[in-house]
Amino acid sequence: MSPFLLTRTLPEDATEAALRADVLHGLSHTPKTLPPKWFYDARGSELFDKITELPEYYPTRAEREILAARAPEIARATGARTLVELGSGSSEKTRHLLDALPGLHTYVPVDVSESALTQAGHALIAERPELGVHALIADFTGGLALPGTPGPRLVAFLGGTIGNLLPAERAAFLTSVRALLSPGDALLLGTDLVKDESVLVAAYDDAAGVTAEFDKNVLTVVNRELGADFDPEAFTHVALWDAEHEWIEMRLRSRTEQTVKIPALDLAVDFAAGEDLRTEISAKFREDGVRREVATAGFDLTHWWTDREGRFALSLSVVR
Ligand code: SAH
Ligand code: TRP
Repeated sequence: MSPFLLTRTLPEDATEAALRADVLHGLSHTPKTLPPKWFYDARGSELFDKITELPEYYPTRAEREILAARAPEIARATGARTLVELGSGSSEKTRHLLDALPGLHTYVPVDVSESALTQAGHALIAERPELGVHALIADFTGGLALPGTPGPRLVAFLGGTIGNLLPAERAAFLTSVRALLSPGDALLLGTDLVKDESVLVAAYDDAAGVTAEFDKNVLTVVNRELGADFDPEAFTHVALWDAEHEWIEMRLRSRTEQTVKIPALDLAVDFAAGEDLRTEISAKFREDGVRREVATAGFDLTHWWTDREGRFALSLSVVR
């Protein structure tokens, strides 16, 4: 096979149709919402990479520590020949796994961000000419189909991205991942853990304002794709801890009373002063909950590892 293949399962016009539907639905209801996958255009992916280097944003460093320590155990436990990574982004932490898996045949990074996939893919094949890389531009929440590469398969879902799905979406997502797999395959899941509120809020509202810029980037995407006239400066980024649901909620708060026009949808959206547009949640987990959620989808959790400070967990589950 050729060393780098890029398959688009999201037609470009379907992306625009989905964006229109999401924006129309999200902005004509109260409270107003916008779904998170639209954060990640080229600029959004670049800003997320900056977030991972912020002093306040500990999840990336904590997860990298666990991966570095546990990659050999993961390799022994799974014997994976195909590594599928959902929401792979820069694939930067994944190198620990790629290095540890001796019999790896193909790496399949899956992401909605084409720029992230091509950058990461080209860097990887330059470093590892013997590795097959089959990148998929695809939405991991919508009917994924995997290439017919050899098993056992290991699906990695890192970065705590599973926390960006609502509980019902998480259940449907885990069930759909299970349906892609066979006995002997495994799921490696990164989950951020419940901890002190001040640590969590700082991670999603950093002093340098990078997360605020990332959050507001979704407005720029809607401006560009749908001709809207959002003024990002007319909104303030807010990160709130919801203790009942145990998730961080990201919002853009309208500084003033204003009307935003979205010509492609023939829509004018009124914001009251102080009204919130909800952009994303980031759920935080406990071991019991993760074990229960993967079990409901048909997996048995076999390993639970945390970083030394107990902030973040990586778990390995096998198909039951
Ligand atoms: N795994 C990396 C990146 C996490 S950021 C890390 O741990 O650092 C989340 C990534 O998921 C981004 O690259 C984003 O483009 C991608 N993503 C978000 N929603 C997605 C969806 N519905 N389908 C596919 N990829 C998605
Ligand atoms: N998966 C990341 C997380 O929940 C995504 C993320 C980090 C994020 N910072 C953000 C999403 C700020 C929206 C806004 O940690």
